[in-house]
Amino acid sequence: MEDLYKENLLDHYKNPRNHGRIIKADIHMEDSNPLCGDEIEIFLRVKDGKIEKASFEGKGCVISQATASMLTEELKGKALKEVQRMEREDILDMIGVNLTHTRIKCAMLPLMAAKKAIIEYESKKE
Ligand code: FES
Repeated sequence: MEDLYKENLLDHYKNPRNHGRIIKADIHMEDSNPLCGDEIEIFLRVKDGKIEKASFEGKGCVISQATASMLTEELKGKALKEVQRMEREDILDMIGVNLTHTRIKCAMLPLMAAKKAIIEYESKKE
């Protein structure tokens, strides 16, 4: 089973979904992994409290790039509050591959960027 997940992961790395900037994104936020310096920037377009469109840019390892691609697919249609509640387990379930502690940091990078983006978006609205 894990082989299928690995294949999926590599497919997302080689053929990233939603790669590039969203023109007129409501939010975008960059975050970096302090261990390696790799960066991911997440772009979100929001409508009625839900994510209408998500994309990413950045450079990094297979895990961070593939996870960003998967996450942008996953985020579409989600309420901002739902995204804020997403945790490590959600990301690990999405990937489906056992990761070392260091690799988990790579996998969490896109979600961390998305969460920070949403915090900034909400604080600007207030
Ligand atoms: Fe840098 Fe994975 S090694 S994000």
